[in-house]
Amino acid sequence: MCGIVGYIGPKEAMPILLKGLHRLEYRGYDSAGVALINQQGTLNLYKCKGKVSELEHFLTGKDGSGNIGIAHTRWATHGVPNDVNAHPHYSASEQIALIHNGIIENYSLLKEALIEHGYTFRSSTDSEVLVNLIEYIRTTNGCTLIEAVQQALKQVVGAYAIAIIERNNPDRIIAARQSSPMVIGIGGEGEFFLSSDAASIIEYTEDFVYVGDGEIAILDRHAPLRIVNHDNHEGRIDIRKLQLSIAQLEKGGYPHFMLKEIFEQPKTLVDCIRGRIHPETFEVKLSGVIDHRERFLSARRIIFVACGTSWHASLIGEHLIETLCRIPVEVEYASEFRYRNPILSPDDIVIAVSQSGETADTLAAVELARKAGAFVFGICNVVGSSIARATDSGAYIHVGPEIGVASTKAFTGQVTVMTMLALAIGREKGVLDASLYRTLSQGLSTLPEQLEQLLSEVAPRVEELAKIFTYAHNFIYMGRGVNYPTALEGALKLKEISYIHAEGYPAAEMKHGPIALIDAEMPTVVIATPDHTYEKTASNIEEIKARGGKIVAVVAQGDSLVRHSADYVVEVPVVHELLMPIVVSLPLQLLAYHIAVNKGRNVDQPRNLAKSVTVE
Ligand code: F6R
Repeated sequence: MCGIVGYIGPKEAMPILLKGLHRLEYRGYDSAGVALINQQGTLNLYKCKGKVSELEHFLTGKDGSGNIGIAHTRWATHGVPNDVNAHPHYSASEQIALIHNGIIENYSLLKEALIEHGYTFRSSTDSEVLVNLIEYIRTTNGCTLIEAVQQALKQVVGAYAIAIIERNNPDRIIAARQSSPMVIGIGGEGEFFLSSDAASIIEYTEDFVYVGDGEIAILDRHAPLRIVNHDNHEGRIDIRKLQLSIAQLEKGGYPHFMLKEIFEQPKTLVDCIRGRIHPETFEVKLSGVIDHRERFLSARRIIFVACGTSWHASLIGEHLIETLCRIPVEVEYASEFRYRNPILSPDDIVIAVSQSGETADTLAAVELARKAGAFVFGICNVVGSSIARATDSGAYIHVGPEIGVASTKAFTGQVTVMTMLALAIGREKGVLDASLYRTLSQGLSTLPEQLEQLLSEVAPRVEELAKIFTYAHNFIYMGRGVNYPTALEGALKLKEISYIHAEGYPAAEMKHGPIALIDAEMPTVVIATPDHTYEKTASNIEEIKARGGKIVAVVAQGDSLVRHSADYVVEVPVVHELLMPIVVSLPLQLLAYHIAVNKGRNVDQPRNLAKSVTVE
């Protein structure tokens, strides 16, 4: 969480910084700020509570000149979201300004020590402690800024991506990283960009250097990029090319990124399966599996680690792999797994699933699994992200930048990759029936067209339904089997963007407690598509009806049973039951979207959330 951006070069920094902040706003939008050094050598710092647009307003009439600057958009961890806690933070003497994404875990100890040395603090943030620690070391030891940063970081426990500028040093930005993302863009001569996410600076360069853990980058307008570690050993500069179309970062005529991303899914599915499912033979080939065939064939167990929506996708992955590969699967919240001293062995495969590839808990789970000798496979969206780089192998979902905070196309992309993964492993292991293999791989290939059709048919219907349920205070989502996680995901979409309380349940569990909640005020969204539990789900619907509950049922075209008991029906195309979660998710995403819009919520930037959770 939090987005950081920096610029040094011949151009005016402010427009680059503000544009970068807008693109990084998905990472947090509690406050925003910039610090620049102007031609006269003045270090100006402006910050305020609220979104980047509020910062822009606040900047009116202020001196925003300078061709070196750093900027920040915040997701609050330590200290409430207000002007004072906003970044950048000045050091006590106002000579140094710092931006920080992450958490300094031992900040209170460091703060106490600095207070003893006479420091006072304006904010309640951990970040202000770090900038003062750097200043303290710089002034008491009489060392250079880089040396002070190196010494300070040796004392820090936690996660950080920081960037620092100093009033008397207008030719340099010092940046450092530990566990939080940071990438440097190489521009023209003497020009560097810095960001939490390459997408935010993609229009200026295609050449990027990912800063590694424990590395400090020196961006100097008179010298090539340097990377050193805390002991000043030079690091390698590994420049990677990255191409991304700017159009992918814009709303493209849609009122919200979320709606655009929902409607993009037919296309993102095509991108996700391109080159992986042969268009004529329907053979599935995933290089991440081919290159490590023996590991997959000898896997004793597969453990998914993920958070949030990616965890829901992993629950679907469990069904897919157990059904198609007959390998036992466990699905773990990364945050629990990492602190649980899990039993791992070298013949375990850990699959880390993460849209951003930066989720702190998932990254820590990956590190733990690797240390324990497990083979780690990543399913990520963001190319070059920390998790993608930390894993032994992997498969990108290739759905393009997901900007709406609520995950939509990444979820269906993850499930698509998991389906291909299960097909590829099941086939290699020889446990997967050839006709089922063909049905599913061909089914995946034709899914984009079906999704296109589904969206055009179902979107107006769901928009109408949303009007009926906008003022409900609670919702239940029910599904069984592979659609139980789909129900969980539907409920999460609704709660995170509309702030309506919603719970997902396996349909048969209702009788064990939750059915007590049912009354005429409690809508239940039921996924009742054809599979071996369909009739049972139909009975579960009757049980809710009998208690006066209102039912919205997602059924397959041609359904004749459930449509009679449900109050409202949304039809989806008939596909194989293992592909159904992808199909069913689209109307559920739309339902959450329209309810949130009707309630006047900020759909793309819901309160208290951030897209990339880089703190644990
Ligand atoms: C919900 C959502 C979150 C993320 C979770 C993990 O819509 O987006 O629940 O799924 O924070 O993020 P990634 O997938 O980036 O690891």
